Amino acid sequence: MNNILVINSSVSGEASVSQLLVRSAVQRVLEVNPSAMVTYRDLSDAPVPHLTAYTVAGVRGMPETQAELAAQALSNELIDELKAADVVLIGAPMYNFSIPSSLRAWFDHVLRPRVTFAYSKAGVQGLLKGIRVIVIESRGGLYSEGPTKEMDFQEPYLKTLLGFIGITDVTFVHAEKIGSGPEARELAIETAKARLEEVIIDSEQLVI
Ligand SMILES: Cc1cc2nc3c(=O)[nH]c(=O)nc-3n(C[C@H](O)[C@H](O)[C@H](O)COP(=O)(O)O)c2cc1C
Repeated sequence: MNNILVINSSVSGEASVSQLLVRSAVQRVLEVNPSAMVTYRDLSDAPVPHLTAYTVAGVRGMPETQAELAAQALSNELIDELKAADVVLIGAPMYNFSIPSSLRAWFDHVLRPRVTFAYSKAGVQGLLKGIRVIVIESRGGLYSEGPTKEMDFQEPYLKTLLGFIGITDVTFVHAEKIGSGPEARELAIETAKARLEEVIIDSEQLVI
């Protein structure tokens, strides 16, 4: 049995390219592996709250107040969901050269000292093991090559966040130039779908 966690973070609903690609990937996975169990977390419909002075101790300290205990309970829930997954599919649009703030709020609850990462004499250690992540990145422009490559604070950031908690088996699939008209959008979607097909078929965690 494979557990798949699907995280969407686009605010664009039905018009979202990342959500369309995530849907198509899940459909394909279920064709090749009908016994896969899929859990959905939509960070746009049901946002994880941003940390505040009243909640941060729930994730980073010793919770005492009701607000801190509620933040810790949510953090526990999100981390348990992540740990239960063999594969995580993340739909991540590029917003202002980085990730949506809703996805950042999710990471703020998941990067937790002594739970998902720890400091040792050897340095920082990610505590999550054996999780494979596929990130679908939708972008208005082109960032995988050319002069705007250095403005990509989305992919290196996601790689760092995931690596920090021990998740190093990460594949990025791009849908770029979404803002360059309908033809470019269609080409980006078809290119990303073809890449996703390769990634799904090659992925032991998904097809076995
Ligand atoms: C708030 C916001 C910020 C955006 N910032 C960027 C950006 O910095 N660079 C870019 O290439 N596209 C940017 N875009 C365009 C989106 O990346 C593009 O529309 C993409 O398809 C969004 O993913 P989605 O279709 O899954 O919602 C932005 C869109 C929004 C709504």
